[in-house]
Amino acid sequence: MSAVAIRPYTTAKIFIYTSIVWLLLGMILALLVAIKSIHPDFLTYNRWLQEYFTYGRLRPLHTNTVLFGFLSPAYFAMWFYIIPVLCKTSLYSERLGVFTAWAWSAVYAVGMVMLFMGRQVPVEYSEMPLVIDIPIIILVALMSYNLIRTILNRKERILYVTLWYFLGTMVWLPGIYIVGNIPGAYVSGIAQTSIAYTWVHNIIGIWFTPAGVGTIYYLMPKLTGNPLYSHKLSLIGFWTIIAFYIWNGPHHLVNGPIPLWLMKAGIIPSILLIIPVWTVLANVIGTMKGAWYKVAENLELKFMLTGALFYFLSCIQGPFQSLMGPNAVLHFTYWTVGHAHMPLFAGFGLVAFAGIYYALPRIIGRQIYSRALMNWHYWLSVVGFLIFAFAMWLAGVLQGFGWMDGNQVGAAFVRIVESLHIYLIARAIGGTFMFLGAITFAWNIYKTATAGKQIPVEDPLPAL
Ligand code: HEM
Ligand code: HEM
Repeated sequence: MSAVAIRPYTTAKIFIYTSIVWLLLGMILALLVAIKSIHPDFLTYNRWLQEYFTYGRLRPLHTNTVLFGFLSPAYFAMWFYIIPVLCKTSLYSERLGVFTAWAWSAVYAVGMVMLFMGRQVPVEYSEMPLVIDIPIIILVALMSYNLIRTILNRKERILYVTLWYFLGTMVWLPGIYIVGNIPGAYVSGIAQTSIAYTWVHNIIGIWFTPAGVGTIYYLMPKLTGNPLYSHKLSLIGFWTIIAFYIWNGPHHLVNGPIPLWLMKAGIIPSILLIIPVWTVLANVIGTMKGAWYKVAENLELKFMLTGALFYFLSCIQGPFQSLMGPNAVLHFTYWTVGHAHMPLFAGFGLVAFAGIYYALPRIIGRQIYSRALMNWHYWLSVVGFLIFAFAMWLAGVLQGFGWMDGNQVGAAFVRIVESLHIYLIARAIGGTFMFLGAITFAWNIYKTATAGKQIPVEDPLPAL
């Protein structure tokens, strides 16, 4: 009995669909957290709610869902779509790919239930218990194996720069996951904090950033019709990301309980990160030459360029807030929450949306159901994010200067908390817009899969 053949790109398709389900869940959790921060009695109406729906349980459920349920699988979809296309070959094993795609969501679903039940490691972004971490590491290793075998089987000799970035992530992601989640859970004090922030900044710097930048470099020539402006610049960006990103952990602990030299060792590479960021900006602007008029009609390009712009702005904001002076005001305030959402949602989130809108029609042979809904998704996301972020940045500055004026305890502290109420309401309003954008997106993708106009193609594989 021969095994039933699995259609090419099924792995990418499953990652796209599951990431959207996680996105919706993550945003519902986000809104619960946002409402609880305005009205702490919300969802405390009986003992069961009081035990399970606490801020301390819902917040890590939100961060884990959006980072590892939505954003990571969205970029796994980019791995599994873009790599075979660039290599002009099929995936080494679609069966293994499909297994890893379903298993990823299944393992994370179990992990979410455990977090909900209170089985958390009390370290930010490493909350998943060890029994979840180990299968996750195995799954990442299996995905990397599948894709590296695909690259080894390639029919195209040239390794386009996106493959460099994606290959990097395949080596770094399992490595940083192990460093961040295994030893960090077994040490305590400053050592634990230092390991935790090495993990935090590297999941950002050597997973989401190269995955997002690799996707930008793939989409730019496709969406503009121009060749990439400079391969050399993109490779300088690649090597400087590795050289400078991994040292950034201590900038999360500036003015904190670590030695001064360690803080400075985190601040200097934060400034040097301007180099890889500029390479992306220069390449985006260079490749756009003569194609700016396309932004008006090409919504995928609009998503991608806006994402690239917010990535750039995050990396202007980041070095500024890592300096000792500004950090003394902004650390521990809502400012950081605004900063965190800029690259993750408005930056690499929008790039992931662009990638999904680009790849899905080519995978399933159907056009996006509604361009109007796509435009709604764009504007709800961007306007919602701007309301959310400016509320957080203003609140953060007021909070930071308020505390510096000595209002850190007693009635004065409470007055600061009360004065921030309006900004928390604005955050929930902005977040509601972002959530409505995500619903529009999910509905559009559902209709595309079920009722999108068929694209008449002989060959279901997209041309390079
Ligand atoms: C040049 C680039 C960047 C620099 C120098 C930088 C710098 C910083 C600094 C100093 C903080 C700590 C703020 C504080 O707690 O006082 C921070 C927080 C954070 N950054 Fe960045 N950032 C950069 C880019 C990015 C990017 C690209 C991402 C996402 C892909 C990101 C995601 C975050 C997140 C999630 C936090 C919050 C971490 C937490 O919960 O404590 N940053 N960043
Ligand atoms: C894909 C989209 C999103 C991503 C990737 C994301 C990511 C994050 C991250 C990394 C943090 C931790 C920030 C820090 O510690 O500095 C966070 C916290 C939070 N997020 Fe999101 N988020 C997303 C969407 C949303 C939405 C739509 C809302 C709606 C209001 C929201 C509301 C919150 C809230 C309330 C917190 C807790 C901040 C606090 O404790 O004050 N997020 N999110």
